[in-house]
Amino acid sequence: MFTLAAKTLTLSPSPFLYKPLTKPQNPNHKLPSSHQTPHCNPPILTNDHNPLPNSQNPNPKPLNSNQVPDFNPPIITNELKSTYQSERGLHFETEDTFFRHESATGRDLGVLSAKLYKQSKGQLRVLDAMCGCGVRSLRYLAEAEADFVMANDANDNNRRVIVGNLRSIERVSGEEKRWVVTHSDANRVLSECYLKKEFFDLIDVDSFGSDSSFLRNVFNAIKFNGLLYLTSTDGYSSGGHRPDCSLAAYGAYIRPMPYSNEIGLRMLIGGAVREASAQGYYVTPLFSYYSYHGPVFRVMFRVNRGSLPDSRHYGFVSYCTKCGNSQTYSWEELGQICCPCSNNIGSRSLVVSGPLWTGPLHKASYITDMLNLAEHWGWVGNGTGTDLEKLFRRMIDESDPRLPVGYIKLDEMASRAKMNSPSLSAIMSAMHKEGYAASRSHIASNAIKTNCSMTQCIRIAKELQGCSD
Ligand SMILES: C[S@@+](CC[C@H](N)C(=O)[O-])C[C@H]1O[C@@H](n2cnc3c(N)ncnc32)[C@H](O)[C@@H]1O
Ligand SMILES: [Zn+2]
Repeated sequence: MFTLAAKTLTLSPSPFLYKPLTKPQNPNHKLPSSHQTPHCNPPILTNDHNPLPNSQNPNPKPLNSNQVPDFNPPIITNELKSTYQSERGLHFETEDTFFRHESATGRDLGVLSAKLYKQSKGQLRVLDAMCGCGVRSLRYLAEAEADFVMANDANDNNRRVIVGNLRSIERVSGEEKRWVVTHSDANRVLSECYLKKEFFDLIDVDSFGSDSSFLRNVFNAIKFNGLLYLTSTDGYSSGGHRPDCSLAAYGAYIRPMPYSNEIGLRMLIGGAVREASAQGYYVTPLFSYYSYHGPVFRVMFRVNRGSLPDSRHYGFVSYCTKCGNSQTYSWEELGQICCPCSNNIGSRSLVVSGPLWTGPLHKASYITDMLNLAEHWGWVGNGTGTDLEKLFRRMIDESDPRLPVGYIKLDEMASRAKMNSPSLSAIMSAMHKEGYAASRSHIASNAIKTNCSMTQCIRIAKELQGCSD
């Protein structure tokens, strides 16, 4: 298999070695403008065998606020760029493989889910389909106590590093192997596992860009009630800057909206929901996590056999550039899209995106279980891991079923109101007093998720500042 993989890499212009963008860029922080020119570097496809050296990783920003506290910065020990890392007390090497220490929180969330699964089902077989240096595989084995992990990465140059990193875990337990390392295209691995009836409890696909091709094969390789952990790093699509690309990848025509990073999560969930439905499965998000470095959109799904109970949570979102209000629409309401600020159906001020996931981003009880486990492991509490704890608490708040798609950025509100914004906590508490649902967003720090419209939010803010129209 290794020879074959190597041949594939050598002979064909392989679409799976994607060279990440060289400049750090998150196009999503911009306010939308319906006349914004797409400003994007398309992904560069390459058949270059050598992955991007760490020195070129597009992540020069400081650690994000969710960085685990016990991370040690890389230590360059010799001229061969041998790079040692440690995460949650586990040591591993990265060398020239693609590795981002900023993704530690994403890995924490995957490991907590895996462990919860193992605790409830008593077994855990994991496919780490794009394993890079193998750090996730190591963590699934050591921390979640996976019975078996298949660590796959198309790039067989990574083999020595992956095997070296997994060596601290006994390769065989009794008669059974605990881990194997393979180097095939993820789609091929998924198809082969299905054909051989080797099913997994958790499949982790940590892919680049908006590669959604594996959605065609991944469901058949997951056990019923199993877990699927998906990643997208396509900030241009979520920002509405290449709607044809998001349409091709996730079946969603995405336009620029002020809460584009939440749209990125909903685009990914919607794409998985649609592809699963086509194949007789239905998926539900357990948690959705946005991280600004990259940017990275991650969602953990529960996968079940059957069909979606209804299309309630798969619809369209509109944003009115004139008044700032957002609304969701079901398929039946498609011909009636209009904003209360003008009675014209299909007004030019409306920007519409979809179809995408309009339901809850997380399951609150599941996040609570993750938080409890993180506390049990000493990852949060006692003044340690406050960022992870804050993330979980925000996710729990965001799970309020009354909260609609999107959030109100206070900067946008203040600019529309032509005033300085009162504090976020003052506005939220006034909203609560008036009976609105309102929570902070884990995605944007100076924003409120609420079922209060922009118009009402401006009124509340003006009242708090003692201004009147
Ligand atoms: C984002 S990196 C993985 C990082 C790793 N999961 C971690 O947490 O550090 C993506 C990896 O996928 C590999 N890759 C890209 N396309 C692939 C494909 N189609 N099949 C399998 N591996 C692929 C790349 O070689 C790269 O190592
Ligand atoms: Zn309007």
